[in-house]
Amino acid sequence: MQTLRVELGSRAYPIHIGRGLLGRADLLAQFITGSRTAVVSNTTVAPLYLEPLVAGLTACGLDVVRIILPDGETYKNWGTLNLIYDQLLAARCDRQTTIIALGGGVIGDLAGFAAASYQRGVPYLQVPTTLLAQVDSSVGGKTAINHPGGKNMIGAFYQPIAVVADVNTLATLPDRELRAGLAEVIKHGLLTDLEFFEWIEANIDQLLARDTEALTHAVHRSCAIKAQIVALDERETGTRALLNLGHTFGHAIETAMGYGVWLHGEAVAAGIAMAADLSRRLGILSEADLRRVISVLERAGLPVSAPAIALPRFIELISVDKKAAAGRVRFVLLEGLGSAIVRGDVPQDALVGTLGAAG
Ligand code: NAD
Ligand code: GLY
Repeated sequence: MQTLRVELGSRAYPIHIGRGLLGRADLLAQFITGSRTAVVSNTTVAPLYLEPLVAGLTACGLDVVRIILPDGETYKNWGTLNLIYDQLLAARCDRQTTIIALGGGVIGDLAGFAAASYQRGVPYLQVPTTLLAQVDSSVGGKTAINHPGGKNMIGAFYQPIAVVADVNTLATLPDRELRAGLAEVIKHGLLTDLEFFEWIEANIDQLLARDTEALTHAVHRSCAIKAQIVALDERETGTRALLNLGHTFGHAIETAMGYGVWLHGEAVAAGIAMAADLSRRLGILSEADLRRVISVLERAGLPVSAPAIALPRFIELISVDKKAAAGRVRFVLLEGLGSAIVRGDVPQDALVGTLGAAG
């Protein structure tokens, strides 16, 4: 097992990464101060992983409430969040109850927001079971639900008390979901770490073949990069915005297509390609580096252009991005591989060029 820390002062927490960690209920139980825990999962993940985890927690002396939600991005909404509150209340869960999120990013975001708001806040643990959740969404404390008007528009910054990522769970992940997770791995390399990006280029086939060592390295390095950025800027007043590379375009694609039609990671992949294209148009990224970005995404089996979305609608959706400030959309762009910046002064013709080329 490898352990990293997200250094956030009194809210610092560990990220444990390794094989077979779901069998180590003690890793979770040590953080649970009350006698109860509520495990939030879904109809796909629960049959695979819930009962062994419950058995371990019970053996640690904990009373476990099971909350099983419908599966899918379309359920990351107010109605499903209410199902969590309903079941917490029905089981008379109090403020000493610790929530455990067992699943991918949808479960992590929903359960995290429930934890942030139930009785004004109860502790929660992240147990991510998708590659995307292990390399990204389980770390950093962003919790949210979607709104018909925009992705992740309702939510809270609320840190977990620990993250336990068992890479063995990735064995049952559908191929399409594995590839979607690789989009966020590639994003992390592009942001700050050329060496990691080059490692991804060299190891993409091993990652797609689910080589455990390669996957563990990808999870570890991604979490280290994300933890460092989150520690600098927990509430995204500056540096953390870099973690949104590809997301301004990606969130617009997800909203335009209808939640769940494109996977989040697929939309981010197209968004990264578009951010790189925009960077090239602005003259800050070379054609050769743009080609390398596109190539690694393509080799991961990910989309590198957006679906057809009418230009005015695309621009409208981009303008509701959470990074917008004083009416200006801020884009995460690439100055090179491993070097990202945020710019709020993108000329409309360059943006239209990228959106036009994509559609
Ligand atoms: P997901 O949670 O929908 O999981 C993908 C699919 O895989 C689901 O059908 C799920 O049930 C299934 N699954 C999960 N684990 C499995 C396993 N081990 N074996 C087999 N099937 C399994 O999607 P995701 O890609 O994990 O997460 C995407 C969500 O994460 C989006 O809503 C996105 O907005 C959010 N996100 C949040 C952050 C953050 O910082 N909070 C960061 C990135 C993404
Ligand atoms: N996924 C972006 C962030 O956590 O800030």
